[in-house]
Amino acid sequence: MSAKHLETEAIRTQIDRSQFLEHSNPLYLTSSYVFEDAEDMRASFADEKERNIYSRYSNPNNSEFVEKICKMEGAEQGYAFASGMSAVFSTFAALLNSDDHIISLQSIFGSTQTIFNNILPKWNISTTYFKIDEVDKIEHLIQPNTKVIYAESPTNPTIDILDLKRLAEIARKHNLLFIVDNCFATPYLQQPIKFGADLVIHSATKLIDGQGRVLGGVTVGSAELIQKIYLFARNTGPALSPFNAWILSKSLETLPVRVEKHCENALKVATFLESHSNVNFVKYPFLKSHPQFELAKQQMKLGGNVVAFEVKGGVDAGRRFLNSIKLLSLSANLGDTRSIVTHPASTTHVKLSEENRLQTGITGGLVRVSVGLEHTEDIINDLSQALEL
Ligand SMILES: Cc1ncc(COP(=O)(O)O)c(C=O)c1O
Repeated sequence: MSAKHLETEAIRTQIDRSQFLEHSNPLYLTSSYVFEDAEDMRASFADEKERNIYSRYSNPNNSEFVEKICKMEGAEQGYAFASGMSAVFSTFAALLNSDDHIISLQSIFGSTQTIFNNILPKWNISTTYFKIDEVDKIEHLIQPNTKVIYAESPTNPTIDILDLKRLAEIARKHNLLFIVDNCFATPYLQQPIKFGADLVIHSATKLIDGQGRVLGGVTVGSAELIQKIYLFARNTGPALSPFNAWILSKSLETLPVRVEKHCENALKVATFLESHSNVNFVKYPFLKSHPQFELAKQQMKLGGNVVAFEVKGGVDAGRRFLNSIKLLSLSANLGDTRSIVTHPASTTHVKLSEENRLQTGITGGLVRVSVGLEHTEDIINDLSQALEL
């Protein structure tokens, strides 16, 4: 029976039980599968049967994880990858040809920019970037060879919100694919396919795992597009390991309750920071002061778990703040039960010129907090004492 609610789908979507009638799904650590006879083997390799052949192609744990994400995102099919970045790269490598052109939001995840700037140009695939406030100018960027519009919302680390419906309309009008990295929102908070996206990509390493244990990625969308991605992946080998798929499928069962609590905590942290005299500004989608507050409310169920804010005093103050943190972790991940702080200007974005950094909204004192599931009083106390120094 198919369920009405995403929470139920995340728990009740299950591959067939084995003969042991287990309640919780087992881990299928197998690289290949056996055939009944020569005819079964022939028909399976000829794609006349839907069945597992080899775990680079498919595995029951991966299938369950993908099916859950598809139901939660409203997608037909998907493929699970070893990491978010292998999902991004394989999606573009599978769908684009040499000399194609991408239009992308500028403030996207750094490794995705590296793929666009340094790797895809090997096949003469070029990218033109637009800034967060330039959505209305995108049509001028379209070239005869443009194939894709690419976006993330909320963005990392500046927590801007993009109008997904508007971008989808432009893509549709010009017969382009619209691809969204939905990692910051998760399918619980936002379903880009509802707004017209063709494909949705996730780094499952973040809130989907939610406990900082495994890497994973997934791309979902129409059966037609996923078939191309599947054929690329089946031959090139970026598959998610069954162990990680088992962890991620289990994690999805608690995603809705975890994300609810992450968002509740993040709103409390954002509200505290906004009232602090050593903070210049706070960016959190569900704070009224966010420039795209209304849009965020239309697109997202809640504001997510990441808060950005600017400490008064520039780069040095940002570094001092990080050095004074006692409870929270200084780490590169996000979407973990443990709250994490980062200082983009001196770490992830240190290689950018100051001008480029400022253009993408990364000021010297900008701090990103991935708000975890510790008690908010403890999170706020740590931020508070670090802000006093
Ligand atoms: C928005 C976004 N997309 C993709 C990735 C890459 O994911 P992974 O680390 O799983 O390769 C990240 C990682 O931080 C991310 O934040």
